[in-house]
Amino acid sequence: MSFGLSRGREQDSGDFGLDRSDLPPFEAGRWDPRTLFRMPERRFELEIGSGKGTFLVQQAGLQPETNFLGIEWAGEFFRYAADRIRRRDLRNVRMLHDDASEIVTHRIPDASCAVVHLYFSDPWPKTRHHKRRVMQDSTMRAFHRIIREGGELRLVTDHDDLWSWYEDHARRHADLFDREEFERPESAGEGEVVGTNFERKFRREGRPFHAMTLRRR
Ligand SMILES: C[S@@+](CC[C@H](N)C(=O)[O-])C[C@H]1O[C@@H](n2cnc3c(N)ncnc32)[C@H](O)[C@@H]1O
Repeated sequence: MSFGLSRGREQDSGDFGLDRSDLPPFEAGRWDPRTLFRMPERRFELEIGSGKGTFLVQQAGLQPETNFLGIEWAGEFFRYAADRIRRRDLRNVRMLHDDASEIVTHRIPDASCAVVHLYFSDPWPKTRHHKRRVMQDSTMRAFHRIIREGGELRLVTDHDDLWSWYEDHARRHADLFDREEFERPESAGEGEVVGTNFERKFRREGRPFHAMTLRRR
């Protein structure tokens, strides 16, 4: 149990949140997150950097026959999101407290994901920090490996420099993904691109947004 972002209310991840100690050891190789669910054969989607879990909470209820995993490395956000998911009893969602880049690159099995969602990822604006961005040539190759043929990598950001970074990666890896228009999820509110917490915060500040879908070839 913890309190953290919840302003004094007790938080409990229950069976909805897991961390590295719940996974088989790294040396065991791939780990299939679909086995976390009662019906592992169902469509599977992954969200990287779920923050407070707003996208998962909004969209997973509309897609009860899809299993979702959110990966969040900040403990407070992970606990907040897992607690929200538990309170809503969203049986088709789990949260993992870990580094998504590592999990995507080393653990997730080939062709297991229908969609990977990456919304308002940290921009790490200083050049010397660019290597901390989730999107790298190595993660693009990993996304191609874990997304099934015809599946999607969905990207939204408010940050102009991160957007150019995404465009450069999409161009460099045009042999792996086709670039398409971003279609808003059903859960997005009126006038929203995707409707996450950060989008709502940045919208109040009047910032414009960029979005694309990369379809796995
Ligand atoms: C700017 S916030 C956006 C949160 C949410 N997607 C939204 O739009 O409201 C980025 C989130 O990604 C998480 N994050 C960044 N890099 C990560 C990584 N490698 N693995 C897991 N989470 C990561 C951060 O802790 C943070 O919660």
